[in-house]
Amino acid sequence: MDPEGSGIEPGTSPRPAGRPLRILAVAVQKGGTGKTTLAASLAVAAAEAGERVTALDLDPQSSLAGWGALRTNGSVVVDRVQPWEIAQLPEILGLLADQGTTLAVLDTAGSSAGLAPALKMADFVLLPVRPSRLDIVAARPTLQALVGLGLRGRLALALNQCPPPPSPRTNAYAAQLRSLGVLAEPGIIHRVDHQDALATGLGVTEYAPGGPAAEEIRALWAWIDAKMRATTPR
Ligand SMILES: Nc1ncnc2c1ncn2[C@@H]1O[C@H](COP(=O)(O)OP(=O)(O)OP(=O)(O)O)[C@@H](O)[C@H]1O
Ligand SMILES: [Mg+2]
Repeated sequence: MDPEGSGIEPGTSPRPAGRPLRILAVAVQKGGTGKTTLAASLAVAAAEAGERVTALDLDPQSSLAGWGALRTNGSVVVDRVQPWEIAQLPEILGLLADQGTTLAVLDTAGSSAGLAPALKMADFVLLPVRPSRLDIVAARPTLQALVGLGLRGRLALALNQCPPPPSPRTNAYAAQLRSLGVLAEPGIIHRVDHQDALATGLGVTEYAPGGPAAEEIRALWAWIDAKMRATTPR
């Protein structure tokens, strides 16, 4: 966390009354499933929907921070949390809440090592997976760890990089996860807009606001927002 680079000055953004900080973590112990892609575009979509968003990159790979460095639009504050700072997340998040952040989006590494202190603070955890058996099986240890941290009912798998419909395989995985009550809706289809948006420091709702990728991300944020509101604050 680099307070100099956070773009937030203490005391300049009073926390809106009655709007506590909510924490959305994007995590799954599997690389390349779309954690950073969804974290970035959901952060932007949430900001467009009225949240004051800080996106924190907890991944030493720093993909989200790299995306943030490309941004010229200040609608989302993007900062890094170094591995040795994860234990200080409660203080960091408390500071952000005091400064007016209403939503913190935590992007995490493809390995869950050392992430428990961050994940247990989350109000909701999104686990992006591709609609493939390998990804869904690989998500199990993360699911079990989250349940162990008391996050049952505060997590969902998001099917990402789905083939264009109709896709019987995607539908079968969606039905299975929906029946278990752990499916985020809607699934996100594999579209180059996501890649081009991230490459230019944009969320997909900024890159192609009228496109189907933007529509899906807005709908996914609305789904997550409703889920977070339906659960009691931690
Ligand atoms: N919905 C999508 N449509 C098209 N491409 C996508 C989509 N989601 C992710 N990608 C692409 O898939 C690759 C992996 O995405 P991303 O880096 O977001 O995954 P990750 O889970 O954050 O990876 P890591 O575990 O390495 O942090 C990237 O090339 C990204 O552009
Ligand atoms: Mg990533």
